[in-house]
Amino acid sequence: MYYSIAIDGPAGAGKSTIAKKIAKDIDFIYVDTGAMYRAIALYFLRKGIDGHDAERIAEECPNIKVSLSYDEEGRQQVILNGENVTPLIRSEEVSMMASLTSAIPAVRAALLDLQRNMALTSNILMDGRDIGTHVLPDASLKIYLTASTAIRARRRYDEMCEKGIDCNLDQIEKDIIERDRQDMNREIAPLRRAEDAVLIDSSDMSIDEVVKAVVTEFEKIK
Ligand code: DC
Repeated sequence: MYYSIAIDGPAGAGKSTIAKKIAKDIDFIYVDTGAMYRAIALYFLRKGIDGHDAERIAEECPNIKVSLSYDEEGRQQVILNGENVTPLIRSEEVSMMASLTSAIPAVRAALLDLQRNMALTSNILMDGRDIGTHVLPDASLKIYLTASTAIRARRRYDEMCEKGIDCNLDQIEKDIIERDRQDMNREIAPLRRAEDAVLIDSSDMSIDEVVKAVVTEFEKIK
């Protein structure tokens, strides 16, 4: 039997930073499910498909194959129809498209088995929006990681400035609010805290403090 840790939460709560660190500390495979939705969104953007056109999107889904691989340093790489698209999926355009198209049932169905199967073959730490509620409802540990909208926007802004990307704090905050709205209000697998998830609000916590809090929770159930 393998352990599975589910970390869900809204955009910019720090899930991936924290999840990567914890996975390294406890030697688990890290699965960033958002990257899978982003790869699919990139496919639709490249094809010029409207993110609201559910019918057209469902028709295209059988032509899309997403898989994951890991480089020598254990970093996740997302492969879209044989192409490594990892460096191409972090733009705001892809973020918004991923949020829109992940609400479409055919898109979610295309990824569900892949995600579930990963938990059958190794100890994994998976982050996303619906991991504790849908993908791994029996996860060994569930965390719901959140932070205030203002803090999440500021973190994203700092991250982008550091990368030299031109951005605007107000616009980032607006985008985050819009993504939260879409992710929390869609009909299928909306973002919400699972009843048995441990709530962590990282607004006033450092990365190390959050890592420690999650590892402490894991020690309790191990
Ligand atoms: O975590 P992220 O920002 O990379 O995710 C991008 C989008 O993908 C997010 O706005 C909603 C969607 N997503 C989802 O619906 N379910 C998941 N498990 C992960 C992401």
